[in-house]
This record gives sequence, C-alpha cells and structure tokens, in this order.
Amino acid sequence: MASARLYTDWLVSAGVERGLIGPREPDRIWSRHVLNCAVLSSVVPADATVVDVGSGAGLPGIPLAIARPDVRVTLVEPLERRTAFLDEVVAALELTNVRVLRGRADEVVDRCGGADVVTSRAVAPLARLMTWSAPLARIGGEILAMKGSSAAEEIERDRQAVANLGVGELSVLTVGDGVVDPPTYVIRGLVRSSGRAGRKGGKPTAKQRRTAR
Ligand SMILES: C[S@@+](CC[C@H](N)C(=O)[O-])C[C@H]1O[C@@H](n2cnc3c(N)ncnc32)[C@H](O)[C@@H]1O
Repeated sequence: MASARLYTDWLVSAGVERGLIGPREPDRIWSRHVLNCAVLSSVVPADATVVDVGSGAGLPGIPLAIARPDVRVTLVEPLERRTAFLDEVVAALELTNVRVLRGRADEVVDRCGGADVVTSRAVAPLARLMTWSAPLARIGGEILAMKGSSAAEEIERDRQAVANLGVGELSVLTVGDGVVDPPTYVIRGLVRSSGRAGRKGGKPTAKQRRTAR
C-alpha cells in the first residue's frame, strides 16, 4: 500500500533525524513497527472512532488509519516535537481520517472522550495506562493496548486496579499470526462503567492514581 510505504519513508528519514525512532530501527521498521501495528486493524470494529494514546511517531494510530479508512483516529501526544512530526505526516499522506491532539491523555478527555476504541503501544504499565485510557472511551467501548509477551502477567498483576476503573473482561488477543513474527499481543478490556472510584472532569481521582501505582 503506497501510504504505508510513504509513512515508512518518513519514519526512517525525518523520524530518525528528529530522534523519534531509534537509529537501529530502520532495518526492521516495516515488520517490527508498521506491520506490527497495522495488524491491530483486524480487531477494530467497523466505523469505529479511535483514540490512540501516546502516539509518539504515530504508532499504532497511523498504520491503523491507513489500513482502515472507515475508522476515525485521533492521535494524542503531549510532546510538541512529536505532534509537529505527526501533523506533517498526516498532511503529506493526506490522511483525512486522522487528527492530531497535543496534550496528555487526561487533558484531552473533553476534546476526544467517548471513543469506541482507545489504543496504545508501549506507553505505560497496564494499571496506569488504564487510568489514562478508560476515561477516553465510551461505556461499552474497548481498550486495545499493544503489549509484549508479558501481557498475561500484567493482567494478573493489575486486574483489581483495572476493575476499579470500570474496565473488565480483560483478555489477551494474539493478532497478526502468519503476518508478523512474533505475533502482536493486545490486551483487550471492555469499559463497563465510569469506575467504582468515580472521576472528576474525566481526570482520575487521587484514589485511582494511588491504586494504579
Ligand atoms: C515509548 S513512547 C511509545 C510511542 C508509540 N506509541 C510507539 O509505540 O512507538 C510513549 C509515548 O507516550 C507519550 N506519553 C507519555 N505520557 C503520556 C500521557 N500522560 N498521555 C499521553 N501520552 C503520553 C510519550 O510522549 C511518548 O510519545
């Protein structure tokens, strides 16, 4: 797909020059980053609104948006250097289904909360990640957090803290079998309520922050 190749070119050139991608990554950028994220598209529902928390250089949000023109993706990223890169890439690739929001996840709830799906990759340990992700999803929405092979252990460790945030039915999905090696592991959670501890203005309460540590 031309857009995916163009995105890869951006990552290995400007992405590396600006320090958003490690200098050792270019050789494996396609398999380990772009394809590894694009396979997430197989578990995102049709026509979903997606918020990608901590997008960095656009992963997994941009490969997802390229693979799935039916979904609308908001890339949330606090660092200006990274959102500047994202703005340029979105314009160059003419990705009409992507917008970029600068800010921390807890600062953008008013602007992009109520999403069908909240994605992330390599952003934070599960419990802390959920304090940022859950307020951005609608009740009945999904959290899809890309994780390494320790995904199941993270669930066991943080299950109670995550339940307190109103997120349940945690499971590990394996996607991209036969496409990427190793396959991509995704923790899926369903947002069942706004959380036992409640939230004020979409921000996690002090109790939720303590539980998530
Ligand atoms: C290790 S990078 C991962 C970037 C990208 N998801 C990837 O897989 O290449 C973590 C990213 O999360 C962002 N981040 C950190 N705290 C955040 C927060 N509270 N809300 C949103 N993004 C955050 C950082 O600025 C950084 O870009």
